[in-house]
Amino acid sequence: MYIEKAIKGETVSFEWMHCDANKKNIPCEVQLALLPEDKNPRIYASIVDITIRNETREKLKQQNKKLAFQNEEIEKRANELTITNRELKKTNNELDRFVYSASHDLRAPLKSLLGLSDIVKEGMDPDNIIQMEQMDMMKKSIIKLDDFIEDILQYSRNSRTEVIQEDINFEETLQNFIKEHEHMNGTNEIKLNVDIQQDIKFVSDKRRIKVVLTNLISNALKYKDLSKENQVVSIDIQCSKDKALIRIKDNGIGMSTQDKEKIFEMFYRATKISEGSGLGLYIVKETLDKLKGTITVQSELGKGTTFNVSLPNQLTVLI
Ligand SMILES: Nc1ncnc2c1ncn2[C@@H]1O[C@H](COP(=O)(O)OP(=O)(O)OP(=O)(O)O)[C@@H](O)[C@H]1O
Ligand SMILES: [Mg+2]
Repeated sequence: MYIEKAIKGETVSFEWMHCDANKKNIPCEVQLALLPEDKNPRIYASIVDITIRNETREKLKQQNKKLAFQNEEIEKRANELTITNRELKKTNNELDRFVYSASHDLRAPLKSLLGLSDIVKEGMDPDNIIQMEQMDMMKKSIIKLDDFIEDILQYSRNSRTEVIQEDINFEETLQNFIKEHEHMNGTNEIKLNVDIQQDIKFVSDKRRIKVVLTNLISNALKYKDLSKENQVVSIDIQCSKDKALIRIKDNGIGMSTQDKEKIFEMFYRATKISEGSGLGLYIVKETLDKLKGTITVQSELGKGTTFNVSLPNQLTVLI
């Protein structure tokens, strides 16, 4: 049948199993073609051993099967990951909402406790020093708890809410901070040097900037070095078209190199002086991440600490 076709002039190609002298089967490809311009029809036959080709084809088939299976597995894993991711986001959101509303609701009874403790103290005998001291201790504990809740609220607000773009007046923000912290314990002896260079519009998120400044400045005031005669905190802010460079420098107790590396971690406190929760700088870092800003610290034990913040001017984003 193949030869008939070849005689008709068709090019014929087929696979054939050749049995060699040792009775070994060798797969071959045979091609038949009619030789041109010959009086008697003559056929040219080429026989090629295709053992290796067949083996390679078989291997490729197996590889393809494996790849198809792996692809299916990867697709399955990707789908599972998408579902897990969605569930995690949902749980995260719910947790954030829970933390926010629980913290928010805890504050009201604390505020009323604070008010009540003032009233009770007013009615107390001022000569009963022990009772007066106990009352002060109670008030201090309430304030500490309230500060902790405020930290949690700040963290939660930062992670839940979008960044707002509004005009920032650094002078006004700082004056407000100074007014609010006038009565902070033991800050009267500290000299506050403020130098603000802002002759350009600066756009960022007011609330978040307040969180950053408040935490850094109150740390600078809190970790003062009582052994030094002149306690100084300097705040320098320089605004440009691209960014604001904020430097908060104190000559307080400073930090060791090991502590310096950990202070941005959650709940880390480098000194026993701290009565805080160790959340402040963690919140500062998270907040700056949202604002696409950066923070670095230089500090030396016994000498003082300087925090440098770089904050992008969102004005360039708006244009
Ligand atoms: N200006 C500073 N000088 C010396 N130590 C500092 C200064 N700022 C921060 N620290 C150290 O870094 C630690 C972490 O600071 P952070 O503001 O996160 O927590 P905190 O002040 O202890 O508590 P919180 O801010 O939550 O009330 C502090 O406990 C303190 O040991
Ligand atoms: Mg702090």
